[in-house]
Amino acid sequence: MRKILILNLVIVFFFGCNQQTATTSTKKLNDLDQKVDSLLNIMTLEEKIGQMNQYNGFWDVTGPVPSNGDAAKKYEHLKKGLVGSMLNVRGVENVRKVQKIAVEESRLGIPLIIGFDVIHGYETQSPIPLAESASWDLKAIKKSAQMAAKEAAAAGINWTFAPMVDISRDARWGRVMEGAGEDPFLGSKIGVARVEGFQGKDLSNPYTLAACAKHFAAYGFAESGKDYNTADVGLSTLYNTILPPFKSAHEAGVKTFMNSFNELNGIPATGDKFLQRDILKGKWHYEGFVVSDWGSIMEMIPHGYAKDKKHAAELAANSGSDMDMESYAYVNELASLVKEGKVSEELITDSARRILRVKFELGLFEDPYKYCNSDREKTVIGSKEMHDAALDMAKKSIVLLKNSNNILPLKKSGQKIALIGALASDKNSPLGNWRLAAKDNSAISVLEGMQAYKDNELSYAEGAAVYLGETNFPSELVLNTTDKSKFNEAIAIAKKADVVVMVLGEVGYQSGEARSRADLGLPGVQQELLETVYKVNKNIVLVLNNGRPLTITWADENIPGIVEAWQLGSQSGNAIAQVLYGDYNPSGKLPMTFPRSVGQVPIYYNYKNTGRPGPKREVFWSHYQDETNKPLYPFGYGLSYTSFDYKDLKVSNSSGNINVSVEITNTGQVKGKEVVQVYIRDIIASVTRPVKELKGFELIELTPSESKTITFQLTKKELGFYNNQGDFIVEPGEFQIFIGGSSDTNLKTTIDYK
Ligand code: GLC
Repeated sequence: MRKILILNLVIVFFFGCNQQTATTSTKKLNDLDQKVDSLLNIMTLEEKIGQMNQYNGFWDVTGPVPSNGDAAKKYEHLKKGLVGSMLNVRGVENVRKVQKIAVEESRLGIPLIIGFDVIHGYETQSPIPLAESASWDLKAIKKSAQMAAKEAAAAGINWTFAPMVDISRDARWGRVMEGAGEDPFLGSKIGVARVEGFQGKDLSNPYTLAACAKHFAAYGFAESGKDYNTADVGLSTLYNTILPPFKSAHEAGVKTFMNSFNELNGIPATGDKFLQRDILKGKWHYEGFVVSDWGSIMEMIPHGYAKDKKHAAELAANSGSDMDMESYAYVNELASLVKEGKVSEELITDSARRILRVKFELGLFEDPYKYCNSDREKTVIGSKEMHDAALDMAKKSIVLLKNSNNILPLKKSGQKIALIGALASDKNSPLGNWRLAAKDNSAISVLEGMQAYKDNELSYAEGAAVYLGETNFPSELVLNTTDKSKFNEAIAIAKKADVVVMVLGEVGYQSGEARSRADLGLPGVQQELLETVYKVNKNIVLVLNNGRPLTITWADENIPGIVEAWQLGSQSGNAIAQVLYGDYNPSGKLPMTFPRSVGQVPIYYNYKNTGRPGPKREVFWSHYQDETNKPLYPFGYGLSYTSFDYKDLKVSNSSGNINVSVEITNTGQVKGKEVVQVYIRDIIASVTRPVKELKGFELIELTPSESKTITFQLTKKELGFYNNQGDFIVEPGEFQIFIGGSSDTNLKTTIDYK
């Protein structure tokens, strides 16, 4: 602590000096900037470069100090003040140990910022982000991020590598589980809710985290859905689809960005000056800092863009990457690059300034150990508050896809229910792919959730494993494509049941980073299991546990009840059981289109009309010979146990805006929530516009027979678009306005926008 006091005295002294000049200086820096500049004035070039260096947790900090290899080098750099941040060091005691070295053994005692992937919870897992996005409930999503921040901060973390705001239209890409789906408007709103949830109103509050908008940019447009693959996109897609959620996160005050592994139009994002300096720090005037993704600076060598580590460091620093995650490039190469005049010291100082600002805002200079409170760690982590929030979020994330003959909700008594599927008893997969701090087998399974309803006769059979194990690579799954030896057990209980509930889909590690799939069907022998059980009992409710849209076309044609239950986190089984039994009326809407077949991918609702739209009687129009253009389930789709009627759609021009109103009525027997969605189509524009674009939504709840008139005001912000020069423009002319409970709504009207 002694070091930090001296450092603060020095800062106050320089700050005090600056105060004298502040009144005379033309540019009045705010207190924060003056403190940062005071510190920068006493830092060496090497110490500034040290702030730009991030290391992964490298030794068991509770054990002996490493004496050789990478860990020893990292330890030495930590002592010399050549480390600005660490990731994957968690737990109050572990964080305290590394922070103590940085603060008490280095010359200036500058505290570390401790980063971690708090993607959907810390120890207590909320639903995967794609699932949360299906709630369209911005308040609940913000609350979920707040809880995650509170729990992670109690473990010593003060920076999360979230929200991921990558738009993607390709369910083959495993990381769709981590984002908010295919639409830039919904993705922007959800990204802002998550930033505000993580960061709160005061970053120095010890229950908040600095957030990180990632992966900048176009990572979700990897060709063929293969992770880390090339992204080649046109300027209109870049400006109108990919960048808006990042710009919204910036406007919401996100403190950091993370760049991406992919190249964008021939330039690796980590070395892309156009993205990082011209757009982010230039046009948008971003003042936070950009961290590279893991090793992505060095990966510019295999990209064929850098000839060696030193060249990679030069390209990354000059293009605007402020912090190096685990490439060891900056700490080893930047000082000589500055001395050789290949990287200016001004750029180094700018990067260090950006990083130090965030540390000051976190309050780490006042108290580097403020996140290291052991008592708080014990009371906050895994608390009832955390699990209650996780359960609430999970219920709201469930989407009802089909409910023929009202097979749902299930009767609560007198029923023989057969529960089938390996995923029904799986207590790990509901935790999703980003479960780093979660306890193994800690999720409530569907079996456990349904056992809470004791007035039915519940039997369970696995039916078939989803996967048989892992190869010697980390988590390369070996799918079960042969073992049907337990089919008979499933058939036996299905034959005797009134209703069969089958939980099928993907295990947690079949989606997420590096988990792309070329086929989107039910993995392994699950489809065969479903069809086999169907032969003996057609009263099936299919519950999907998955991290991406799946092509469940056969199920849609044959199975009466289908529930999309994603990977819902720690309280998964309780949420699913409460929806199946009607204690919660499902209200989710799809944030991403479900294809009928993988051949349609990428498939999305906001497509362009083309010069040969269809359908036409002759062959010359944009279509397949062997598949329809229509999706299995469209963006924004989701059913309820009740029903809603829309009428009296009205639109009017109003001083450059378009006012929209509609009346909705609950025409069913139970209370229910509806996401009222408003879409536009700009019929003629100087850059072609999609056939539909989401431009507003409101989540409402109505009791049976209750009606409500909902109004929207579409401003220039909603009616305009970016041209290929990156300028935002609004053009008068004919617009179609659509409104309804799904993107495939036909309730529309036209207006001549003035
Ligand atoms: C990973 C991911 C990134 C994550 C980082 C740190 O490779 O791409 O999203 O935040 O490394 O774990």
